[in-house]
Amino acid sequence: MKLFVDTGDVEEVRKAAEWGVLDGVTTNPTLIAKGGKGFKETVLKICELVPGGAISAEVIATDYDTMLKEALEVSSWHPQVVVKVPLIEPGVRLVKTLSDKGIRTNVTLVFTVSQALMAAKAGATYISNFVGRVDDLSTDGMTAVANTVAMVDTYGFQSEVLVASVRHPLHVVQAIEAGAHVATMPFKIMEMMFKHPLTDSGLTRFLDDWNKAGLTIG
Ligand code: E4P
Repeated sequence: MKLFVDTGDVEEVRKAAEWGVLDGVTTNPTLIAKGGKGFKETVLKICELVPGGAISAEVIATDYDTMLKEALEVSSWHPQVVVKVPLIEPGVRLVKTLSDKGIRTNVTLVFTVSQALMAAKAGATYISNFVGRVDDLSTDGMTAVANTVAMVDTYGFQSEVLVASVRHPLHVVQAIEAGAHVATMPFKIMEMMFKHPLTDSGLTRFLDDWNKAGLTIG
């Protein structure tokens, strides 16, 4: 499974990249606004921090012609840029156009398997299925992920299912169980994935025993 960090904060990207397990970064207009820097500047810095990673940059317009203009602009910034497109009618049309040109896309704001089918048929590289926002409405967001993974497998689509709107490490575990290809998450959730109290207490005991015995390496 690929791990992406979901942020517009370059310092968070820098720290996550240092761990050596980061496959990409997703941004959205809210996260870029929160990052407090320019859109292009932020995206280019992230590309530099995650060499070879897939870096999603979202179009803002909602009409096809302007979306296409924006998509060609952001994809010209760097070969690692993946154009993020909302799942609306002109968005699906745009994904087909970009896919025909060999430009990678990440279709966002996907909540149902029927929406995911439209994205897959248009040639989406990634289908971002939001989970947390559905769970917030007392409904199981992961069901659509599992159904979308099954749909992609059954019909042999090339799209990767990306679990987005992740709220806690259990969502990542459930994404793995559902067979999702990618999970994107806030930096703090990625940090939490390292944690277990038995790891901490176990390490303390190992080191105490070692030091009490006066041992050294080499
Ligand atoms: C995905 O690419 C989105 O940026 C993100 O996962 C949205 O998450 P949220 O529901 O926490 O805003």
